[in-house]
Amino acid sequence: MTSSDRTVVITGGTSGLGRECARALAADPRWTVVVTGRDATRAEAEAEVIGAHGMALDLGSLASVPRFADDLRAAGLPPLRALVCNAGLQFTRRAYTEDGVEATFGINHLGHLALVRALLADLTAPARIVFVSSGTHNPAQFTGMPHPLTATPRALAYPPDATESAQRDGRRRYSTSKLANLQTAYELARQLAPRGITVNALDPGLMPGTGLVRDAAPTTQFLWRTVARALVLLPGVNTARTSGADLAWLVTDPGLDSVTGRYFVGRAPKPSSTASYDIEAQRTLYTGSLEILTELAH
Ligand SMILES: NC(=O)c1ccc[n+]([C@@H]2O[C@H](COP(=O)([O-])OP(=O)(O)OC[C@H]3O[C@@H](n4cnc5c(N)ncnc54)[C@H](OP(=O)(O)O)[C@@H]3O)[C@@H](O)[C@H]2O)c1
Repeated sequence: MTSSDRTVVITGGTSGLGRECARALAADPRWTVVVTGRDATRAEAEAEVIGAHGMALDLGSLASVPRFADDLRAAGLPPLRALVCNAGLQFTRRAYTEDGVEATFGINHLGHLALVRALLADLTAPARIVFVSSGTHNPAQFTGMPHPLTATPRALAYPPDATESAQRDGRRRYSTSKLANLQTAYELARQLAPRGITVNALDPGLMPGTGLVRDAAPTTQFLWRTVARALVLLPGVNTARTSGADLAWLVTDPGLDSVTGRYFVGRAPKPSSTASYDIEAQRTLYTGSLEILTELAH
């Protein structure tokens, strides 16, 4: 019998896409799977169902990130070979993290960047980092979502009052955060190539029925859980299980051993938006985000 010799951490593994990715990876005896959620008890309960480990991590609390990294080390698991930055939220109102950062930017982008940095020394080459992005980052792709903002990291972290409806502002900040995930993936891919760590990103497609719209009005949530599920017959619309298997494939497929800095739609490499390839913008986001993280740590 093969025993596990490698660990993967999946943020937001308690629901939707992350849970299905975790389920697929936990079925492979080589992998020890760690799923994270904000609440330790819930994360442990969800993890137990699929044969994974559950740990607490709140990406909206920068103090939680080093605590999680310590818990992971203390668990004495096999070497960390993969990190899946999957957790993501969409707000319909202005919300802030415990550190006072706009929550979409804070959780979807800054929290993940802090996590990558906290686990960098633990990632054992050959290792992979996968970011979950979305087609909503791309203004050239019709998704029904407002286009991403062009703004400095500081303006994204500490925005002025919304100039459009709270709902539209929240949706725009979501597409902006998905562009930030992609820009961060491309920046890290360049930085980490010499260390044998690849970094890629996934657009899982629209996955009706997940918890993504948990902050929306009850009618929207009802439609998302019921009628919208029928859309899976359309191109670009998937079940969380199908996309979860795609995400797991990005972690494990041997054909991707030396593939880095790529954007996948399902399992197909595709070009991402023109803006996402702007190296200057990637660096500005990266360095500006690190500055904010450093300030918040003091
Ligand atoms: N659904 C779609 O149509 C769609 C399309 C394109 C891309 N995506 C992307 O897919 C990813 C997964 O979304 P999903 O649709 O599967 O949503 P979901 O079912 O709501 O799952 C989100 C996960 O994130 C976790 N989470 C929420 N807030 C967190 C925080 N502050 N810190 C740490 N973890 C937190 C949640 O865990 P707890 O509640 O237990 O903390 C949950 O496990 C996201 O990045 C999303 O942008 C989704």
